[in-house]
Amino acid sequence: MSASSGHRLRVLISRAKIARRVKQIGRQITRDFRGEPVLLVGVLKGACVFLADLSRQIALDATFDFLAAASYGASNESTGQVRLVKDLDSSIAGRNVILVEDILDTGLTLNYLVGLLRQRKPKALRLAVLLDKADRRIQPVHVDYLGFKIPNDFVVGYGLDYAERYRNLKDVCVVLEGKTEAVPRKNKKNAGQRPASQR
Ligand code: IMP
Ligand code: MG
Repeated sequence: MSASSGHRLRVLISRAKIARRVKQIGRQITRDFRGEPVLLVGVLKGACVFLADLSRQIALDATFDFLAAASYGASNESTGQVRLVKDLDSSIAGRNVILVEDILDTGLTLNYLVGLLRQRKPKALRLAVLLDKADRRIQPVHVDYLGFKIPNDFVVGYGLDYAERYRNLKDVCVVLEGKTEAVPRKNKKNAGQRPASQR
């Protein structure tokens, strides 16, 4: 697969495989919440494609809300502080909340968001994540519904971006070209390719 910019992309997880897994997760959530309403909270922007597909595999009364997070420009990821850029529109107190995210990397973002939402006293708080790069974890995060474990490669598509591009690809793909220069693995969030507020 090739794009106008010249990035070469290799399919890592096909659309068919994603669809099958999303369907299974949707069924599992439907069973787990036994007819109760759920609030799906998507982390902008990357989670919106996964949330859109997952929500349609959940046979429950479901509502949507969104938040956005950013990390401060620390030179070392382990000291990277996360902050909220956009908060939820509604209260989550007493509600069944499923936080939906595209990818779990260092864990800094989700660790922060889970802590923040827990303080607001939801009835239940579960985490649904499409992709997990477990090797990169700095802070522990418990995932209730996981799509796929993946190796430590920079991926795009199905909501995930590279400098805001490729979110609309139907498959999850690995960026093959220029990845060592354009997307340094150790510190990609501060590489200038990814505006901190647009994750
Ligand atoms: P964490 O706080 O390091 O777990 O960062 C998670 C966030 O980093 C995700 O929500 C993505 O926005 C971004 N991210 C991490 N790895 C990738 C990747 O391979 N492709 C695109 N975005 C990524
Ligand atoms: Mg994201």
